[in-house]
Amino acid sequence: MKLTVTDSSRALAKTPVLVVLCTEGDSPSLPKGVSIPATATADFNGRFREVRLADAKGGTVERVMLIGLGKKKAANAESVRRAAGVAVRSLESSRFGAATVHATKAALDAAGGAELLGTSLAEGLLMGSYRNVRFKSKSDGPKLKKVTLCGPGAPFKKGAQRGEALGRANCFTRDLQNAPGNLMTPTHLASEARKVATGSPRVTCRVMDETEMRKLKMGALLGVSAGSRQPAKLIHLVYKPTKKKRGMKKIALVGKGLTFDAGGISLKPSGKMDEMKFDMSGGAAVIGVFHALAAVGCDHEVHGVVPASENLPDGIATKPGDIHKAMNGTTIEVLNTDAEGRLILADALCYTCTKVKPDTIVDLATLTGAVIVALGHELTGMFPSTEDLSERLSEAGEAVGERVWPLPLLDVHREQMKSRLADLKNINSPGDGNGSTSGAAFLSNFVGDTEWCHLDIAGTAWGSRDRDYAGGPTGTGVGVRLLMEYLARR
Ligand code: BES
Ligand code: MN
Ligand code: ZN
Repeated sequence: MKLTVTDSSRALAKTPVLVVLCTEGDSPSLPKGVSIPATATADFNGRFREVRLADAKGGTVERVMLIGLGKKKAANAESVRRAAGVAVRSLESSRFGAATVHATKAALDAAGGAELLGTSLAEGLLMGSYRNVRFKSKSDGPKLKKVTLCGPGAPFKKGAQRGEALGRANCFTRDLQNAPGNLMTPTHLASEARKVATGSPRVTCRVMDETEMRKLKMGALLGVSAGSRQPAKLIHLVYKPTKKKRGMKKIALVGKGLTFDAGGISLKPSGKMDEMKFDMSGGAAVIGVFHALAAVGCDHEVHGVVPASENLPDGIATKPGDIHKAMNGTTIEVLNTDAEGRLILADALCYTCTKVKPDTIVDLATLTGAVIVALGHELTGMFPSTEDLSERLSEAGEAVGERVWPLPLLDVHREQMKSRLADLKNINSPGDGNGSTSGAAFLSNFVGDTEWCHLDIAGTAWGSRDRDYAGGPTGTGVGVRLLMEYLARR
């Protein structure tokens, strides 16, 4: 789908269908020269997600599609993203090939101005049009080829361009997530990261293989990879801004890139095991951030580190009770080979701290089923090491509709991870409970004093409720817009 942005009112005068966003109880604000029969609006209230398609009277606008934003007081940027998602899906099902979206006053007020409206419209349209049909041998491509956004001035255009970059990056991440494990191997994930870097002069990518990991003494990552025929990869992306600005920070994003998690020797039950192809969602989000950075950039130096591996039960796989040594010398007793995410992240976090030396680290991982018990599918579990980082991520999450919620990580939890035989064990004791916190507590041993936040996205990476532009049974691309917003605000 091609998106164009204009502030010329001519775009509103000639189109097969004009999309008009309206708040509840207010009469639709149609551009000059466009009208619809009174009977068409008689039964349209502007309720949230309401849709009405009407024939236009005279002129060169053929049809008008009214979309409800809901009550004026409650309407916000999220309502606009969802309304745009509703619009794009309705346009597709009515088989329109092109459409124009009118930036109504109601929509401008809801989003909080022209720039934010441009962003939320473009995001909602692109994300809402995402279809996971790549693996159907016979499937029609999308009918809707061209959407024009018509809104006021340079801020609207700037916002829409940002929204387009973010929407496309989100869809890119969803494609990575939704690819099955036989195609989405660590090698393939690395080649996708390299492609992102090839597309931009400001992004570089280095991929380390198992020989280099051995030199770096990454025993935890290699211990997970031992159970698989597919070699592990450590992906390191770097974004450098065009100009160094005062206050520029070095921010590292670390994402779990476990391309298939069978559990290893501690094999998972077979029901729903297919969903473990999504266990690379944290890595996919990090690579997605660089996809967006290549298009719109940011003021900081950003590093993306993705440990990519499979977790399978081969004859030389790690066994329960095995002890491995991580890059920082910490010995780890592996009591459950299914708690593998924290093992590959341990070495990735050590690598990030010692080689990158960032001001802040944010890691994203589908780390624990327990976070779904605690927070469900609508909130990401957040373990921030500082109040400041907690606030920044919470605010970014609220703004983009990818909400995060703080969970505790205290010294008592770190105590739970001490092993009788080694420095650490990779799971806490049966009966301790606090499954998500114990995972975070384990990770805290590998970040030194660096400001750090662990995000457990096991609930939000897939399986959240359909929100018209995201959610549902496939990957959600969670994290891309959250982190881009965090970087933009920082
Ligand atoms: N990838 C899983 C976590 C997961 C489970 C994500 C369900 C999404 C849905 C992770 O590697 C894992 O297996 N975690 C174990 C940890 C346990 C062995 C301490 C879990 O959550 O059961
Ligand atoms: Mn696992
Ligand atoms: Zn896993």
